[in-house]
Amino acid sequence: MSKRLLKNARLATFLDNGQPYGLIEDGALVIDGDTIAWCGAASMLSADHATLPAEDLEGRLVTPGLIDCHTHVVFGGDRAREFEMRLEGASYEEVARAGGGIVSTVKATRSASEDELLASALPRVDALIAEGVTTIEIKSGYGLDIDTELRMLRTARKIGEMRPVLVKTSFLGAHAIPADYKDRSGDYISEVCLPALEAAHAEGLVDAVDGFCEGIAFSPEEIARVFDKAKELGLPVKLHAEQLSNLGGAALAASYGALSADHIEYLDEAGVKAMAQSGTIAVLLPGAFYTLRETQHPPLDLLRQHKVPIALATDCNPGSSPLASLLLTMNMGCTLFRMTPEEALAGVTREAARALGLSDRGTLQPGTRADLAIWNVTHPAELSYRIGFNSLHKRIFGGSE
Ligand code: NIG
Ligand code: FE
Repeated sequence: MSKRLLKNARLATFLDNGQPYGLIEDGALVIDGDTIAWCGAASMLSADHATLPAEDLEGRLVTPGLIDCHTHVVFGGDRAREFEMRLEGASYEEVARAGGGIVSTVKATRSASEDELLASALPRVDALIAEGVTTIEIKSGYGLDIDTELRMLRTARKIGEMRPVLVKTSFLGAHAIPADYKDRSGDYISEVCLPALEAAHAEGLVDAVDGFCEGIAFSPEEIARVFDKAKELGLPVKLHAEQLSNLGGAALAASYGALSADHIEYLDEAGVKAMAQSGTIAVLLPGAFYTLRETQHPPLDLLRQHKVPIALATDCNPGSSPLASLLLTMNMGCTLFRMTPEEALAGVTREAARALGLSDRGTLQPGTRADLAIWNVTHPAELSYRIGFNSLHKRIFGGSE
C-alpha cells in the first residue's frame, strides 16, 4: 500500500503537548501501509510528505480508533425478562441467586452453536464498529464448561477474522458458579476453570485471564488460584472487582501486576494505592452502573489523586449492561461519574489501549497503527456531549477504509 496524506485535520493525538486532548489544530497525518508514518502541525510537513496523494479532511477531527476494552458480546439468548423482574423490584443479586442472571445466559450459550453465537454477536460488534471502534476485547464466561468456554473464544477469534476490527480475548471461566457446582465453587475451579484455561491457552485462544471476585461469584482465594495458573502460562490478568461490595479484589489483582481492575464502584483508598503502585488501569463501566441503578460511585477523585489511569468501556453483556455504544458510554462517564470529556475520550483511546497492554495504538504518533476515527465535529467534547447521535465521518483500520 502506498503512502498517503490526510490534510486539514484537527488531531486529538493524546500526546503530552501541553494542549487538552494533545490537540493539534491545523494538523496533517501521513499513513504508510498500516502505520502512521508522520503526524503533526501542517506547517511542519516535509516537502516529501506534502506532495503525497492527499485527502482534504476540511477541518474534521481525527482521533485514534476507539477501543472497547471490556465486553461480553458473545453470548446466547437475552435477558429481557430479567430486566422486567428488576423493574418489578428484584435486585441483580436476587435475580442471580434465584437462578437467573449470568447462569441463565449460560444455559442459552451452552445450547448455541458457534455459528449461532457468531450470528448473534456480529450485529453488536457492527454497532460498535459503526461508531469508530477498531479494537475490541471479548470475554468468555457464559460457558462454565470446557467445551462452551472454548467455543465462545473461538467465536471471538472468528469475529476478528470476519470484521475489520482487532479482537483481544479474555478467558473468564471464573465468572459464575454453575448450578451443578452450587456450594462447590472450589471444585469448579479445579475441575472446570483451570483445565478449560489450559485447553484454551493450548489452542492459542487466550490473550488475558479475567475473573469475577464477588459474593455472588468467586472469593479472592479462588481468584488467586486462577491467577496463579495464568502466571504459570505467562498470561496477563485483569479482574471484575468491587462491583457490588469490597472484597479487596483490586488489590489482589494489583499484586499480580494486573492490566486492569474493572467496575470498582466499592473500591477504597488502599485499593486505589495498590493499583497506582502496580500500574493497573481502572476500567469504569457506566453502562452497568446505569442498568443496575447503582448509587455507589467509583472513587474518581482518589483515582485522579493517585494518578491511576482511567479507561471506559461498554461492558456489553445481556444482563448488567446491554449497551453496544461506546459514544453513549462516554456520555454516561461524564454525566454519571463526572469524568471530563477529555478523560472520557482518553478512556476509550489511550487508556483503553493500556488496559489491554497494547502500546501500538490509542494515540496518534509515528509508528502506531493507522487505526483512525474521523468525526464531523469541531470540538472533541462533542463526542461525549451528544446522546444517541453518531457523528462518525469514517473509520480507517490498519490504513484501510
Ligand atoms: O461485567 N460482573 C460480572 N459480569 C458482568 C455481568 C454479566 C451478566 O450479568 O451477564 C459484568 O457486569
Ligand atoms: Fe463485565
